[in-house]
Amino acid sequence: MRIEKHPILSFEKKPEIHFTFNGKQLIGYLGDTIASALHDNGIMHYSNSILEERPRGFYCAIGNCGSCSMTVNGVSNVKTCMTELVEGMEVVSDTDEVTIHG
Ligand code: FES
Repeated sequence: MRIEKHPILSFEKKPEIHFTFNGKQLIGYLGDTIASALHDNGIMHYSNSILEERPRGFYCAIGNCGSCSMTVNGVSNVKTCMTELVEGMEVVSDTDEVTIHG
């Protein structure tokens, strides 16, 4: 989902950026974070909770919760809400890895 029309603000189409998520080719736009590009592509489930297998995904969007962490270009636990999308990125959900807070 992406805002295309607004009564006050204008949203110009930005250059496309190609990346993969779990091997699937997707398109984002210049200035997206990985998480915003995934959200725009309808992907909101990133992992499951360790105890009850509840779905986890984009939550705080300010780098505090770790709920959006994934493996990016082979580096694990990257906070995708704080990482700018780059051409050719390979993003993999960390369904086997769970961060326990507290
Ligand atoms: S959504 Fe909370 S750290 Fe990214």
